[in-house]
Amino acid sequence: MTKPDSFEPDKIQAGLKNLRIGKKVIVFGSVSSTNDIAAEYTKSESNDGLVVLAEQQQAGRGRGNNKWLSSYGDSIICSVVLTKESISKELLSLTFAVAGAEAISAQAKIKWPNDIFLNGRKIAGILLESKQTGFGTAHVIGIGINCHQKTFPPEINEIATSIDIETKDICDRIIITKRLLSSIEHWLDVARKEPQQVIKTWENLSLLLGQRITVVYNKKRFSGTCSGIDPQKGLILQLDSGRPQFFPAEQTSIAY
Ligand code: BTN
Repeated sequence: MTKPDSFEPDKIQAGLKNLRIGKKVIVFGSVSSTNDIAAEYTKSESNDGLVVLAEQQQAGRGRGNNKWLSSYGDSIICSVVLTKESISKELLSLTFAVAGAEAISAQAKIKWPNDIFLNGRKIAGILLESKQTGFGTAHVIGIGINCHQKTFPPEINEIATSIDIETKDICDRIIITKRLLSSIEHWLDVARKEPQQVIKTWENLSLLLGQRITVVYNKKRFSGTCSGIDPQKGLILQLDSGRPQFFPAEQTSIAY
């Protein structure tokens, strides 16, 4: 059934002032993964800023081989192609987390590196995939935002939430997608001109800063207090032994 907020390129682009992100929008019904489709478009540098949206994914992926599940029309499933971006992959990841949190809610928080939480539950996730091309590094940044879900599969029902659950209302995915694309364009500009501003904002939104946490890195557990973030080296943990240690995002997970 077509929902009132079904994706259409014209609806997304109407009134969107962006010069880059969403100048081209492609919409699908059901696909394997929008990140896979977006990856095809990284072959041409001219696709910088392209946005791929879908109503549903059959094989949506999360970080660390997790699945990203979504039934038809319930989520914002979005992948952004960047073929001309000079900022590092690590800073890009933080930039998209800040942009996503800002687009979802003023109350949204970030759990390192880029999970977005609302009222203590995960509401959105980000998957950044990069590859080398003839013209440099191309990135696909996939974002999944739970919108109309009322319940989740048992294994995540206690830890996941959606915008409709939290607002006790029915959100409009078109409005939120436009907000997301504007926010991405804005924060990419900030990241290029004042990277420290992205890091400061990320830290202000962080659920972990100042918290005692345990991470798993190289199959070993490390406990300490989260004292900050370094865009290149990752999470900074003040270990119980007293010394600071950096944990790169791609090889590290939060144990609790
Ligand atoms: C995570 O929280 O582990 C990241 C989830 C990322 C999901 C998005 S949905 C759009 C894009 N396509 C995918 O297959 N994954 C990302």
